[in-house]
Amino acid sequence: MSEELFIPAEASKKEKYESLLPQLAALVDGETDLTANLANISAALHDTFSWWWVGFYRVQDEVLVLAPFQGPIACTRIAFGKGVCGTAWKEAKTLLVPDVEAFPGHIACSSSSVSEIVTPIFDKTGQVVGVLDVDSERYDVLDETDVEYLEKISQLITTLL
Ligand code: SME
Repeated sequence: MSEELFIPAEASKKEKYESLLPQLAALVDGETDLTANLANISAALHDTFSWWWVGFYRVQDEVLVLAPFQGPIACTRIAFGKGVCGTAWKEAKTLLVPDVEAFPGHIACSSSSVSEIVTPIFDKTGQVVGVLDVDSERYDVLDETDVEYLEKISQLITTLL
């Protein structure tokens, strides 16, 4: 595995993801420890897109528990159906929230975060085993391109389970 990411600085968001995806696959190739892989994936996403917060929650004993992330400290436990994360888990689908104030029950781990995407991570039987959460301090950053590629990253993680 290479110790550096190579992401073209002037590229579009889509081009950055296209460059990042094979590098993520190489980064996790041959490593069996899930925590190590989630840690590197969150660091690679944070380096590439400079989001406010990006990381994982894993389902443990019927609750989402904070897992590897990059950014400020965050809430450690989120119940099924609560907040954006718990709702994405319950509905087993990606939620793009352009304005968190407009999402009933949003959990404000950080008052600086104003928009968010949460995508579920499925195991090979289709059960939700965690979520990938991205938070931005801007309203105009997260969009359907992120949804498309974060879902691809979630699918990569499924292959690691
Ligand atoms: N805002 C999330 C909580 C997790 S933090 O943003 C890291 C939610 O509503 O579920």
